[in-house]
Amino acid sequence: PLRIAALVSGRGSNLQAIIDAIAGGRLSAEIGVVISNVASAAALQRAESQGIPTQVVRNRDFPDREAFDAELTRCIDAHEADLVVLAGFMRLLTPGFVQRFSGRLVNIHPSLLPAFPGLRPHERALEAGVRIHGATVHFVNEETDGGPIIAQAAIPVLADDTPETLAVRVLAQEHRLYPMALQWISEGRLRLENGRVLVNGAESPPLPM
Ligand code: GAR
Repeated sequence: PLRIAALVSGRGSNLQAIIDAIAGGRLSAEIGVVISNVASAAALQRAESQGIPTQVVRNRDFPDREAFDAELTRCIDAHEADLVVLAGFMRLLTPGFVQRFSGRLVNIHPSLLPAFPGLRPHERALEAGVRIHGATVHFVNEETDGGPIIAQAAIPVLADDTPETLAVRVLAQEHRLYPMALQWISEGRLRLENGRVLVNGAESPPLPM
């Protein structure tokens, strides 16, 4: 099966959704290693409690981004991962790293990209007055939260939403969306063509809402 290296920085609820999808037979994959740049990340405990190997690679221990990314690369390769899955990994990766794992590096971001890349997407969505918000799974390129879109899930913005209430409803969609997108990859259903993702020939497959 697809061998995943997951990169995390925090809570790890998306990692948990992936672990649960594998356990539940909805995702045919295995997680070879979970790597965190933050030693105290709750995501590491989630992995350890499942017997998944973990590794802490602290960005502060390295003189620059290149050296940090070189160590990430070494860990990923040591665990023979096919796919690098960013799950709440809050460090920007160098162009060298992104190119090395081109087509094998995916991310989830809590907005309907290309709207609201980067930090505080929920707050900025409310400020912009959008009526629809959501989450995006995408291949990673050199731009922050950029790259070809694999799958999206949308939710309505409610009149009394706060960044926090919005985040809760988007997160529920993330937990559904990420395992689904990874399963598409696992099944070999995705193709990159002219910088866009085709899923089994269809550009925009219907989402099971
Ligand atoms: C998730 O909402 C994820 O989409 C977001 O961080 C959160 C991590 O939560 N990622 C980004 O903002 C990437 N730019 P988790 O640790 O519980 O999965």
